[in-house]
Amino acid sequence: MTRETFGEDLARPLTIGSVTVDPPLVLGPMAGTTERVYRLLCRRGGAGLVCSEMVSINAIVEGSDRTLRMLRTFEGEHPVSVQLFGSEPAIMREAVPAAVEAGADIIDINMGCSVPKVRRNDAGVALMAEPDRAVALTAAAVEASTVPVTVKIRAGLTLRDHTYLETARRMQDVGAAAIAIHWRAACQGFGGTPGWGSIAKAASALDIPVIGSGDVVRAEEAPLMMRHTGCDAVMIARGAWGRPWFFGQAAAALRGEPIPPDPDPAERLGIALLHAQMLRLDHDEHIALHQMRTQLHYYVRGLPEARRFRSGANRLTTLDELRSLVEEYLAHLKSVEQQEARAGL
Ligand SMILES: Cc1cc2nc3c(=O)[nH]c(=O)nc-3n(C[C@H](O)[C@H](O)[C@H](O)COP(=O)(O)O)c2cc1C
Repeated sequence: MTRETFGEDLARPLTIGSVTVDPPLVLGPMAGTTERVYRLLCRRGGAGLVCSEMVSINAIVEGSDRTLRMLRTFEGEHPVSVQLFGSEPAIMREAVPAAVEAGADIIDINMGCSVPKVRRNDAGVALMAEPDRAVALTAAAVEASTVPVTVKIRAGLTLRDHTYLETARRMQDVGAAAIAIHWRAACQGFGGTPGWGSIAKAASALDIPVIGSGDVVRAEEAPLMMRHTGCDAVMIARGAWGRPWFFGQAAAALRGEPIPPDPDPAERLGIALLHAQMLRLDHDEHIALHQMRTQLHYYVRGLPEARRFRSGANRLTTLDELRSLVEEYLAHLKSVEQQEARAGL
């Protein structure tokens, strides 16, 4: 560890180029989840920076309507990092100004995604096998951008591949303003024995800020990751599913304060309803409900009789039905509570 973090204020804001990330907690990019509605909720819930889903540079340049809609941001969610994926520096040069124009405060380049659709096109994690292209792509984005450019990588392609450190150093040399690193190698997918060693290696090898990603699901793990690795900020992705307030809890942990409890069921489901209603602004009802269904499962994680709510959520066909389901579930919880109180439990 090169950065002395013990005894320091772990919650101090991080500066990435001209952008202040306060607190140093970042909502990680997640295809299918981190669209502008969820990003806004996470900012309100305490994230210092939120990342978009990955957006194709080729589709931006082709002017695809669906892709251009993905670039929209809400006023209240800034700072927002827009993640781009692709492999051609010339196309990157054309796409970056459009993303900045649409509201990106930071441009992030995806070099960590291993889904076949992205890899096949030499983008995402495939770029880690082509360091020269990865560096050229970063340089092209930096040249074309008026906002800071960051890169999100994995710890190489295989467990024995340590070239990610050299590649990250070269990306720093061409102007990358920060590196986010998901600690796993590409071959590990989302498995492997948990360990943040590669984040520590990147933090010690680079002068620019390093954002650590992977497996922070309890608030206490945010300061733990910073202390163990010397990283400058913590990225939270799956841990924020169905609980945008998690960032506020993790921020308290960074400040060394008691961690606030989860909101009560009525407040949690109020946020879930707002989430669904706002998705409806951007999508038709069917798609909004489809997007919401998995999130709803997470919104009730740990609540009594969550299965009852989840089985109702699986059958929803309209937002009105969701409202009724929430009312019915909350009324049920209340009556169980009253029965327990009467029984002196
Ligand atoms: C459903 C899903 C979609 C993801 N999409 C992206 C993506 O578009 N771009 C990216 O760089 N990482 C993506 N990731 C990786 C996350 O940003 C993060 O690095 C990884 O999940 C590890 O962090 P976590 O344990 O906090 O989830 C995705 C992860 C998941 C689970």
